[in-house]
Amino acid sequence: MRTALKLFAAVVTVVVLAIGGFAAYIAWSFANASIDTIGEVDFDRPLTIPPLAKSTVDAHGVRTFELAMQAGETDLGRGAKTPTWGFNSSFLGPTLRATRGEQVRVNVTNRLDETSTVHWHGMHLPAAMDGGPHQPINPGASWSPHWQVDQPAATLWYHPHPHGETAKHVYRGLAGMFIVDDDRDVALPRSYGVDDFPILVQDKAFDGDKLDDTNGLFQSAGILGDTVLVNGTPGPFLEATTERVRLRLVNGSNARVYRFHFGDNRAYAVVASDGGLLPKPVETSELLLSPGERAEIVVDVRPGERTVLQSTPPYAGTNRFTGDTDRLDVLELRGAATLRPSPVVPATLAPAPDLADDLVGATRQISLNGSSTNFGKMDLERVDIVSRMGATEVWDVTNSDGQVHNFHIHDVLFQVIRYAGGPPPAVLAGWKDTILIAPNESVELRMRFTDFADAKSPYMFHCHLLRHEDQGLMGQFVVARPGEDVGAIHVPDHVDHAAKAQIPDSHRQRSD
Ligand code: C2O
Ligand code: CU
Repeated sequence: MRTALKLFAAVVTVVVLAIGGFAAYIAWSFANASIDTIGEVDFDRPLTIPPLAKSTVDAHGVRTFELAMQAGETDLGRGAKTPTWGFNSSFLGPTLRATRGEQVRVNVTNRLDETSTVHWHGMHLPAAMDGGPHQPINPGASWSPHWQVDQPAATLWYHPHPHGETAKHVYRGLAGMFIVDDDRDVALPRSYGVDDFPILVQDKAFDGDKLDDTNGLFQSAGILGDTVLVNGTPGPFLEATTERVRLRLVNGSNARVYRFHFGDNRAYAVVASDGGLLPKPVETSELLLSPGERAEIVVDVRPGERTVLQSTPPYAGTNRFTGDTDRLDVLELRGAATLRPSPVVPATLAPAPDLADDLVGATRQISLNGSSTNFGKMDLERVDIVSRMGATEVWDVTNSDGQVHNFHIHDVLFQVIRYAGGPPPAVLAGWKDTILIAPNESVELRMRFTDFADAKSPYMFHCHLLRHEDQGLMGQFVVARPGEDVGAIHVPDHVDHAAKAQIPDSHRQRSD
């Protein structure tokens, strides 16, 4: 009997300790879930400006870039160096730059020991060149996509897109910018690194000197860090030497939505969004940017001043585990003692998107729910949408599960027709490729499928919170010729079939 009692007491103790431990863990998680770094960051490092990638132009006018994905170690302000990944360097990558009309080619070599891909986010190009999960690059292998740049001047970016592993590859440092120029002459600051700056913003969590990529139990959106890096620089300052600076903001974070504003709440001009210049500049003092989105802003600078670009809660204090209550210092802007003159921001910038009156070929209903769309979880072999070349379509996208999601479509730029029940705000009046959708809201998007019919090569659409994307909140569409038959998608053998097998629910579902 003694033994039985003792055993019972032991079991009770273990259970009580486990419950207590779990409660303590919940309390600890909750207490640590809100991050506030405002006023805490020493801005003591000059902002790193990624180099412009070198390129060669051959006799046929093809501009060729070289990118190598590699592992290394980087000083991210942790004392010891942090193991990281990068393109042509240990962390992040150079800025690619090309002009509308040019033929470009990128020779990408994978020097990592895992399979990856490189996707050109925001680029209008053939699906086989897109760098999604169907174009894997094995360790030691190379891939050389080529295409003609044909879209308005814009700030695009590139990053890996391997099946189920995108969050990890981007988080470790694989990301860079791709700036497209065109021949429209718009008076904006445009000297790279002088008055026109790439601003790639990413938040990181650390475990000592290592990047911490563990997801907390309640971090359903993915990793949220308490250290903000801009172009890989912790605690960055930028000294402006001109009266106005253009900041090309790219949200390259895995999960974080930023609401950017300055410490003194000054107004600035938003001049461009994902797909290029807005119809006209938008004066504002705050701007929401979700993962994958870009915006270009022009900021007035006064001699000798200091002000801090910050981010404070994007939503009115809802879920602290998705960063909704975080306050962050991002970048200190310093005015030099004397400033050179800058052009005044023009009153009009670019033609507005023109799809509102198009004849609509098809209307798609898409809903985002947990880790699936209404078509199911991402399946590499399933085509969810067949779009017909030449058609304009409406995509009605609903965030139906009360979490934060956004929505990105490969290949096409879209026009926002309705946003959360009303006309789109002025900052969404230009061409977009990624859009934030607040919990339980809908957006109506319109896009035109003008080129690159290929019934065998799908493009992706997905939530750009990378954990959601990896978990299956992604679907595939092809652009086919009118009337053309579309079969199953052949998945290349070198795609990780183990990962593929984990995805249930591969019922075929298609719409025309
Ligand atoms: Cu920025 Cu499908 O990705
Ligand atoms: Cu999502």
